[in-house]
Amino acid sequence: MCGIMGYTGNNDAREIILKGLSALEYRGYDSAGIGIYDNATGKVRVSKCIGKVKNLASKAEKENISGSCGIGHTRWATHGGVTEENAHPHQVGKVTLTHNGIIENYEELASEFGIEENLVSETDTEVACSVFNHYYNKYKEPFKAIYKAVKCFRGTFAFTIIFEDIPGKIFAVRNVSPIVAGKTEHGTMLASDLTALSLFTKEYMVLGEYQILVMDKDGLELYNIHGEKLDIEYLTIDWDMDAATKKGFPFYMEKEINEQPEAFLNTVEPHCVNGLPDFTEEGLTDDVFKKYDRIFITACGTAMHSGQVGKGLIEHLAHIPVETEIASEFIYGEPILDEKTLVISVSQSGETIDTLTAVHKAHEAGADTLGIVNVHGTAIARESDYVIYTSAGPEIAVASTKAYTVQLAVFYLLAAKLALVKGRMTEDKCRSFMKELMSVPEKIKKVIKDKDKVHKLATRIVEAKNVFMLGRGLDYYAILEGSLKLKEVSYIHSEALPAGEIKHGTIALISDETPVILSVTQDKLAAKEISNAKEVKSRGALVILLIKDGVELENEDQWDAVYRLPADSDELMIFSVTVALQFIAYFTALDLGLDVDKPRNLAKVVTVE
Ligand code: G6P
Repeated sequence: MCGIMGYTGNNDAREIILKGLSALEYRGYDSAGIGIYDNATGKVRVSKCIGKVKNLASKAEKENISGSCGIGHTRWATHGGVTEENAHPHQVGKVTLTHNGIIENYEELASEFGIEENLVSETDTEVACSVFNHYYNKYKEPFKAIYKAVKCFRGTFAFTIIFEDIPGKIFAVRNVSPIVAGKTEHGTMLASDLTALSLFTKEYMVLGEYQILVMDKDGLELYNIHGEKLDIEYLTIDWDMDAATKKGFPFYMEKEINEQPEAFLNTVEPHCVNGLPDFTEEGLTDDVFKKYDRIFITACGTAMHSGQVGKGLIEHLAHIPVETEIASEFIYGEPILDEKTLVISVSQSGETIDTLTAVHKAHEAGADTLGIVNVHGTAIARESDYVIYTSAGPEIAVASTKAYTVQLAVFYLLAAKLALVKGRMTEDKCRSFMKELMSVPEKIKKVIKDKDKVHKLATRIVEAKNVFMLGRGLDYYAILEGSLKLKEVSYIHSEALPAGEIKHGTIALISDETPVILSVTQDKLAAKEISNAKEVKSRGALVILLIKDGVELENEDQWDAVYRLPADSDELMIFSVTVALQFIAYFTALDLGLDVDKPRNLAKVVTVE
């Protein structure tokens, strides 16, 4: 949450920082700000405004903020509303600073340091800025000031700091919230993540927790919190730098929906060895898998929805009991875990604070942890005992699409592997399961080809205030995600329910023209689902059926809209219905004229509890 960017070198810092911030906007876009050292006055000049980075770009230009060393920020508001005063950078005395994270004890600190009266914003960040300034004035040197200030803070943080009387240098320090940095021919830069850095360089380093990074135009220096110099380990960005561009699509969301066949294969193929699922590269040997008699899956948002499918699959194929728990509940609940439990945490970003805390909690309880993560080298990946990387590539749209599909793919592989190891599936059966799995991209492509047909379905719900989605079994899991997608991007209230449950209350909300979308993809459940569709139809609902090709439907004309999904085995139908539901959400938002990639109030990376 919140994106930070810094540059110092020979080039125009404003241009570079704004470009980086635009790439980081998916981390938050309530307000944006920039602070650049002005050689003429020896001061850091700050420009900030409510809204997106493009607003900041014109404001900073008008104000002629320029120079070659600066820091910038795009904010997702936590403490204090969306106002210009609360936007970053904050300035107190000689310190100008941006922050990603939350300083939990900021109120105590404000009173301890006697600064309550002087604060101009409502933010924890301004308090932190005052604390840095206090120690900088006291010790007159940055390392001691950073060490002393950081010792006061309880919470998470990634700070970038410019001390006014140390021109050309940027300091950074972090706990939990990430910072990556790199150098180019013309200077050095840092950012919250590689989406921004990859626009300028392929070589990068990850700032470790409680390390201090010092950047100037000539290079990067790394120190521990006591100011002792450390060696820097440089890594190379291994993704296609072009992947983080829209490639001609109007929105990243559409581009990312289209990338799913490829992302699926990139994730599955490396884990298919001699036709069987394999995770030995990740250290997950048969012996490791044999150890576990229970599995716990924890995650947030879309990632949790993939976990629910995972539960269904693992229990069905491998007969291992699986519990799922939203990470923010898991960490304050009392999950029963032991050394025979594998706790799987799922996260696209690898940064979600609740999911990361769940990993810590699982370790404390003696359980092993497995992270299913998309972004390499992130906290959840590093802190889990095992990690399986999904290969979605960078996902920029706030609403997750391809990252979900590849998380599902990993659960299919894991379920098959566990079934094999536990003797619930023969090798032959597993081989044919894997063969079928490999054909999923073709089914996804078919739905992508049909996108105009699916768009027509979306036009039926575009004016609705409420939408209901119904399904049973895997269809229920599919609509949980489909319903979240619709809410996220179109702001239409949507509720997903097990189809059999609607008559226990919610059917009271169905009246003339209330849209109800049914996912009907499971042969064994189709008749039941269709009879639930009739129940809502007879109450006046506008019924849209997403139905597997081949499932019999008497009198098709009685339904308001029907879309036939390419037939597959029941277990694999979730992929094509997911894509159809993604398009429904996408086109609804598009037709409503909304900013599909940046829905209001949301951020892609959630680093606060
Ligand atoms: C945010 C995003 C969602 C995502 C969730 C979990 O709410 O907007 O798309 O599913 O966080 O994120 P993670 O990175 O852990 O998968």
